Amino acid sequence: MGLFEGKKGLVFGIANDKSIAWAITQELAAQGAEIGFTHLPESDPARPKNERKLRKLVEPLGSTFVMPCDVQKEEDIDAVFDAAKEQIGPLDFVVHSIAFATIEDLKGPVYNCSRDGFKLAMDISAFSLIALARRAKDALVPGGNMLAMTYLGGERVIPGYNVMGVCKAALESSIKYLASELGAEKGIRVNGLSAGPVRTLAASAVSDHSLMDKLYSSMAPLRRNITREEVGKAGMFLLSDLASGVTGENVHVDAGFHIMGAPGEDMSEKADE
Ligand SMILES: NC(=O)c1ccc[n+]([C@@H]2O[C@H](COP(=O)([O-])OP(=O)(O)OC[C@H]3O[C@@H](n4cnc5c(N)ncnc54)[C@H](O)[C@@H]3O)[C@@H](O)[C@H]2O)c1
Repeated sequence: MGLFEGKKGLVFGIANDKSIAWAITQELAAQGAEIGFTHLPESDPARPKNERKLRKLVEPLGSTFVMPCDVQKEEDIDAVFDAAKEQIGPLDFVVHSIAFATIEDLKGPVYNCSRDGFKLAMDISAFSLIALARRAKDALVPGGNMLAMTYLGGERVIPGYNVMGVCKAALESSIKYLASELGAEKGIRVNGLSAGPVRTLAASAVSDHSLMDKLYSSMAPLRRNITREEVGKAGMFLLSDLASGVTGENVHVDAGFHIMGAPGEDMSEKADE
């Protein structure tokens, strides 16, 4: 019996087979979960590339629930939860794996971020969790849960992460408030997973991955970066009943990188030299 046998959920944020949401989905599906998915609406409806890409990935898992959803649009989110209620039924989990900021706003220093760019990044990357939670509160069974993806740049200054760090700080704070509210109302858990660098479409906009690999190899307690699979497994754990006592948490899956204050060489030895 898989951990997710008889469990159902929604996953927001698979762009392709490199997406963190796909890594989590693979683990959930291997444990027997039934999952519905959303994709970004097509820029050209005549060429439904996003839908096609997503269906190709999830149909082999037996998933047929695939819907467009721009989290900036209330009507899109309503349509997804309405359809899920009809076609999937009460949900056990909802995964939020979504972020966006324009390249200009990401690249520049935070003080140069445009007002519109800030609103856009915050809307898609942070407010969207609140918007999903509002619907998930009714759609989830008591004891169900939500999981959102975050990064260390929300807690500390990571050069290059810029405005996305500000968004992640808002997301992480939202996770705590939502955990408190939904926990009290319905026993629903809300957690964050703070992943180390993973090569994805979104990450290519914010980091030089080989530089990150070098940094993690020298600084992280495990002296390496994490794998996509490790993020997927930890995500599955948090969404499962094994984590039934965990809420409002920000679980770092980063080979321990976040605990370090300096590179991993013994500084006392250096001082003696
Ligand atoms: N890749 C990393 O190194 C890393 C590390 C820590 C956290 N994260 C976080 O993981 C999450 C997933 O990112 P990823 O790295 O898998 O990249 P990704 O590009 O595969 O996923 C980002 C997703 O956001 C979706 N999205 C963007 N704007 C949207 C909108 N308006 N409406 C609906 N969906 C929208 C995209 O369609 C895409 O599916 C993000 O929150 C990201 O910040 C990534």
